[in-house]
Amino acid sequence: MDFKAKMLRDDALKGKNIVVTGGGSGLGLSMTRYFLELGASVVITSRNLEKLQKAAAELEEETGGKCVPLQCDVRHYEEVEKMLEQAHASLGEIHVLLNNAAGNFISPTERLSSNAFDTIIDIVLKGTKNCTLALGKYWIDKKQSERTVLNIVTTYAWTGSAYVVPSATAKAGVLAMTRSLAVEWAKYGIRFNAIAPGPFPTKGAWDRLLPGDLKEKFDLAKKVPLKRVGDHQELANLAAYLVSDFSHYLNGEVITIDGGEWLKGAGQFNLLEMVPEEMWDMLEMMIKSKKQS
Ligand code: COA
Repeated sequence: MDFKAKMLRDDALKGKNIVVTGGGSGLGLSMTRYFLELGASVVITSRNLEKLQKAAAELEEETGGKCVPLQCDVRHYEEVEKMLEQAHASLGEIHVLLNNAAGNFISPTERLSSNAFDTIIDIVLKGTKNCTLALGKYWIDKKQSERTVLNIVTTYAWTGSAYVVPSATAKAGVLAMTRSLAVEWAKYGIRFNAIAPGPFPTKGAWDRLLPGDLKEKFDLAKKVPLKRVGDHQELANLAAYLVSDFSHYLNGEVITIDGGEWLKGAGQFNLLEMVPEEMWDMLEMMIKSKKQS
């Protein structure tokens, strides 16, 4: 089974111009690479212009596509508006927005300063709002339809999660925004969907979220029923499909890609997986004998 294979046909995104926030590294970079391979032109944004320029040059070399690096802190609406102006100047019409930029850190919530909490809310929720509102208003004003917004959330957007409370709070907001605007802006021809990825290792996030020997202590692959972490291409395949015309009838959906991880934590009896086969014989006898008495 080659789950690292590329899914869509070579021209699947030909003619599409895409803005990827946080596109200079990690999962954003992997999705951008595949979009370029499928014929799209992509603007990548983040705060670090040097990193973006290097990534864009490498991606262009690798894929032969057009990748434009634009500095933008998504927390500030006026920076987002400026970035979009430059994006339009470089690529022309923008067809797709991928809200991927995020910030997160693990911490007991009572140790967080108010500013620390705000920082994550500002990047994740306000950043997604800033890009969506600025580009959405533009699309509506210019009567540009057949547009798509894809938001990256997480499975704890609906379960919540201890120790990443600002991120959980912000991602829940992004999910609500996705579903709300999917209905409200459908009349303008703008689709909204989200992806909730499980563990897909990236250097930046994993060093931050599982520092030191936490990586060994909490082997995330073991938490996944399929007993492995995700490969970046698997996520890129799904993202490319969701921003392509092939998913034209998909709107307001959140697709989880986590090998069953969150459901494993949710099912009341899932822990019974630890019961060995021999013990099931004994348990079955005990249960059946109870029923007879
Ligand atoms: N634990 C607790 N508080 C923290 C923290 C941590 N690990 N890291 C930062 N903070 C606090 C700071 O102390 C500061 O609060 P204060 O002013 O009250 O002291 C506040 O958060 C802002 O920190 P600062 O470093 O100024 O923010 P920043 O805007 O430069 O960047 C991040 C914050 C989270 C975006 C930064 O860690 C980052 O660049 N991360 C990379 C992206 C990322 O996290 N990706 C993961 C995606 S899942």
